[in-house]
Amino acid sequence: MTGLPYPPSVPPDEPFGLLADWLPAPGSGETPVMTLSTTGVDGYPDARTVLLSLFDGARVHFHTDSRSRKVVELGVAPRATVTLLQPEVARQVVVTGDVAPATPAEALAAFRNRSRYLQLLAWLNDVGTAQLGPAERRARWAAFDAAHPGPLDPPPTWRGFTVTPVRVVLWEGDEQGPSTRLAYELERGRKGRGRWTWERWAG
Ligand SMILES: Cc1cc2nc3c(=O)[nH]c(=O)nc-3n(C[C@H](O)[C@H](O)[C@H](O)COP(=O)(O)O)c2cc1C
Repeated sequence: MTGLPYPPSVPPDEPFGLLADWLPAPGSGETPVMTLSTTGVDGYPDARTVLLSLFDGARVHFHTDSRSRKVVELGVAPRATVTLLQPEVARQVVVTGDVAPATPAEALAAFRNRSRYLQLLAWLNDVGTAQLGPAERRARWAAFDAAHPGPLDPPPTWRGFTVTPVRVVLWEGDEQGPSTRLAYELERGRKGRGRWTWERWAG
């Protein structure tokens, strides 16, 4: 946390310092939930909750199963929005951007940072298991857990993705006044290099 006041009287030129201030610091071990929105293959929006694995100062990381709907959708349209609500401080962060695979080292580090429960889930949360009744699902879980007592490696289906922002919207509520938003947009020039602009939006 950099402790930047918000809303800053003169916002920074780029949103990354504010994002670093609002999101958990790398190494903190905090993985808050966020809504990951994608474009469904039928053209309708799709959304689900995932853990924010990391904000590395430039990109938001999340992790998932290679067989999931979201991975199919991102293969067609590698763009996403993540929405992170922080009700305890009346904040909401919305980051829209381009999605790319995380490196194998990044994906491995994220798996190591997951709890044993979530590591087991990554191994066992498949369509076949979902067809079983609760007792059979638990039996399969217990048998796998007992057969692998030591540290687990990621399953071959473990995938990491990063969202590189093109739009960042920071919402802050105010119990004694209107909520406000600070909205950053990346304007991409012809040479691909971008310039960030910001506006204040109504809350
Ligand atoms: C609190 C919570 C955290 C979750 N975290 C993740 C996660 O980090 N990665 C993931 O793939 N699914 C996570 N899920 C499950 C997803 O919401 C979703 O059901 C799953 O990824 C399949 O989504 P899809 O079919 O749209 O691809 C989480 C669900 C909840 C309720």
